[in-house]
Amino acid sequence: MPDASFARQRGEIFEYAGATVEMVDAATLLAAARVNPVDLLRQASWPEPVKRVDLSVAGADRPGGPVHAFSAAISTADEPYSKERIRKLVLGQDPVGLLLAKRIEQGDPITTRIVDSVGSAAVAAYRKLGLDRPTQPAANRRPATLADAVVGLQATVTYDESGTVVRLFAEVPRDDVTPAHLQAFVGLTLQAVLELAGENSLTGRKFVISRDAVPPRTAPTTQTVTLDMVGGLTEVVAELREIAVSFRHPEAMERWGARRPQGILMYGPPGTGKTMLSRALANEIGADFREIRTPEILDKWLGGSERNIKQIFRDARRYRVPTLMLFDEFDSIVSYAGAGGDAASQALNAVAGIFKQEMNDLIEENPNVLVVATTNFPHRVDDSLIRSGRFDVKLSVPKPDEASRAEIFRKMIQGLIAAHEQPGFEMFADDLDLVALAHASHGMTGADIKEVLRRVQLAKAMQDARTGGHVAPISQDELLASVRDLLGSR
Ligand SMILES: Nc1ncnc2c1ncn2[C@@H]1O[C@H](COP(=O)(O)OP(=O)(O)O)[C@@H](O)[C@H]1O
Ligand SMILES: [Mg+2]
Repeated sequence: MPDASFARQRGEIFEYAGATVEMVDAATLLAAARVNPVDLLRQASWPEPVKRVDLSVAGADRPGGPVHAFSAAISTADEPYSKERIRKLVLGQDPVGLLLAKRIEQGDPITTRIVDSVGSAAVAAYRKLGLDRPTQPAANRRPATLADAVVGLQATVTYDESGTVVRLFAEVPRDDVTPAHLQAFVGLTLQAVLELAGENSLTGRKFVISRDAVPPRTAPTTQTVTLDMVGGLTEVVAELREIAVSFRHPEAMERWGARRPQGILMYGPPGTGKTMLSRALANEIGADFREIRTPEILDKWLGGSERNIKQIFRDARRYRVPTLMLFDEFDSIVSYAGAGGDAASQALNAVAGIFKQEMNDLIEENPNVLVVATTNFPHRVDDSLIRSGRFDVKLSVPKPDEASRAEIFRKMIQGLIAAHEQPGFEMFADDLDLVALAHASHGMTGADIKEVLRRVQLAKAMQDARTGGHVAPISQDELLASVRDLLGSR
């Protein structure tokens, strides 16, 4: 029997405080971070009171040259005792906290190196501990051990006003960065978790640092749009979930020699959620998101637009991690079918031709790329472009029916409640009737429903601002009035 295990990729494994950490393809991950921020560790489960850890690495430009910026945000439960612990972790204004101080005391070579390069903060930390400043690390020695490798890692530890988030931050010049820096930073992050959660709290846990197989964040923030937030459009959402699965499991695709869809065209009236679906799909995959806006392509100079589009696709061939490229309102970028012979339409036709060719080549060459194009006017997009076979998935995104509108109202209102209600502040009254709202809002899109809510929110906020509080929650009548208002204004 042939053993296929040799073909399976294994990451580099290291131990930290009783936990096992696997780093999968760290070099690629660091390379990818040059182009787009990379989120790591999303899937992990954490000991109380730590709720989640957002760890990322991103390229940044500094006056001294490009760097890799490592950052970690450790969120804890909003409990007094975790606040207390966090304050202890970070001493006063000093960016080097107790965490680092403790490690120095224990003679941790990694921490010592990190602190060495923080400058005055390190001096303060040493003074607190009653230690002499240690000798400077040897300058131009090649990194041989982990401790050596982290020379130059400038780590700071701070906490948020709320007292529930600890942040760690470090930068390494881009040309010097190695997987050892990543490993050191992960170690430091785990050390901070350990300080918060107590000794042995990491024992037996396993963490995977990788760019692959990242499920969507469990707790969506306001900026994070997820497929769960989409109302109606059940089949479209189901199809996008399937595509996301295929992107999250490249190994399965490879095993069966299968090709996953790489071109999606979404069409439908304005405001029906096409842009939202694209962003949500990127989140569902854990893909990087790159939106190509019309001004980025169209150039008034002869040949400029062609050059721009070629450059965009040239960059795209180099994406090493799943990346969703969104050509939003595609019709404004690419030619109108059979447009006139004037210079402007000729330029557009040239762009369309190049787009077709580039899209073919790109999909052939780079399986990490997913191209999504949206349009409000499918009949305007050059037929041959759509039929070129490169948009393997075409999705109609229609206006919502009554049941879908009820669902959109429900999801939006739930989202607002989750984001804004707190003890002592009720945003919506108990008399809401989603069926009646759905019925009254005949003909509206998701964007319209959002506008209905926005107007009511603003009216309430203004009333609050003028009267200094004591404003009643949003009622069914007020929502219905806002629906009628918006319908009447068109
Ligand atoms: N089906 C839907 N479910 C939930 N929200 C929606 C839906 N359709 C539209 N919206 C809301 O309307 C906003 C605008 O929609 P958008 O995605 O820009 O529409 P389009 O790109 O089709 O013009 C979205 O950000 C979202 O808040
Ligand atoms: Mg849109």
